Amino acid sequence: EATRTIGIFGGGTVGGGIVEILTKKAAYFKELTGSDLVVKTICVRDANKKRDFVIPEGCTVTDKYDDILTDPDIDMVVEVMGGTTDAKNIVFSSLKAGKDVVTANKALIAMYLPEIEETLANMDKPVQFRYEAAVCGGIPVIRSFQSDFVGDEVSMISGIINGCTNFMLTEMDQFGRTYDEALTEASRLGYAEADPTLDVGGFDARSKLKILMRLGFGVEVPEDKIACRGITDLTKLDFDYAKMMGGTIKLLGVAERVEEGKITAFVSPCYLTKEEPLASVSGATNAIEVSSRNLQSSTYIGQGAGRYPTANSCINDIIALAKGDKSPMPFNPLDKVTEYVDDYSSTF
Ligand code: NDP
Ligand code: HSE
Repeated sequence: EATRTIGIFGGGTVGGGIVEILTKKAAYFKELTGSDLVVKTICVRDANKKRDFVIPEGCTVTDKYDDILTDPDIDMVVEVMGGTTDAKNIVFSSLKAGKDVVTANKALIAMYLPEIEETLANMDKPVQFRYEAAVCGGIPVIRSFQSDFVGDEVSMISGIINGCTNFMLTEMDQFGRTYDEALTEASRLGYAEADPTLDVGGFDARSKLKILMRLGFGVEVPEDKIACRGITDLTKLDFDYAKMMGGTIKLLGVAERVEEGKITAFVSPCYLTKEEPLASVSGATNAIEVSSRNLQSSTYIGQGAGRYPTANSCINDIIALAKGDKSPMPFNPLDKVTEYVDDYSSTF
């Protein structure tokens, strides 16, 4: 009888959700994939910490990476611990050891996707890699970019791509919460990164925008070349002014073609009038608007952060791998962007 033996790095917000769903739907997933999906080992920083989810029977909780990396039984690794140093080693070691990998780690993907793709291309035996949860949590936006735009030409990607800050801005604007209260609540709800500076500084949105730019425009742009301003300077006065003018403030990530072969991008709080669709996107919801030649205008909307929306995307990746689906080919638009122009940094 077939078994996929899984090792999970991270037993926090996302890891806990993945384990819960795998346990709850075990029988159905077996029917769907033809395999028992068994979580053999969960690696965390503190193996003695009490968890807010049930550890499956027979599963070991460890703080030693090698308990997963060198276990020959484990053929699928789920990396949901975050960071770009140890997580990088884990992902590359796992792939090189022939283990399929699922990750939700946008910081890592933004930095190392080209290297990961190169590693995958040079493997003797095919190994699969998926990262749907890395951009916009529960919205299947990576998959859409990998499949729905192959015959299209994307001209603009624009949207709310950080749930924590959108939640905070909604709380500050609509419920009069202070910045600190809103951030505390966003962390409690599992929306914030372990280091929330990544959220409030706009850096998490910038990582996601960079990934979307690679998928949509075929361009690899150093993250620090993307102009980035977060929400840390916003005060009640900004919201009062926005209200006076009949609108609100949203943290947007925008990448657009400026002329043939050239693209520009930024992450910044923006004033939106009430009539603009993104103005009414509230809480941890994310929304991405894509302009393209064939589809013209498409909008993707859904929960961008939090335990279950994010775990849902990881589960979809795990199921796809267990079913033996091949990872989608790296998207390679015909009308590639060849030059990135930083039009905004000097004005930020
Ligand atoms: P949490 O902080 O809730 O959980 C992180 C987990 O990883 C914890 O169990 C922690 O162990 C473990 N961990 C962290 N560092 C190490 C380490 N060096 N060695 C071993 N274990 C470690 O994070 P999230 O679950 O929120 O996020 C995980 C990943 O998913 C990140 O890459 C994040 O960007 C991404 N993501 C998160 C989303 C969200 O809404 N939360 C949405 C989309 C992506 P311990 O519990 O013992 O401290
Ligand atoms: N901290 C991230 C956010 C998690 O709030 O969007 C989802 O990527």
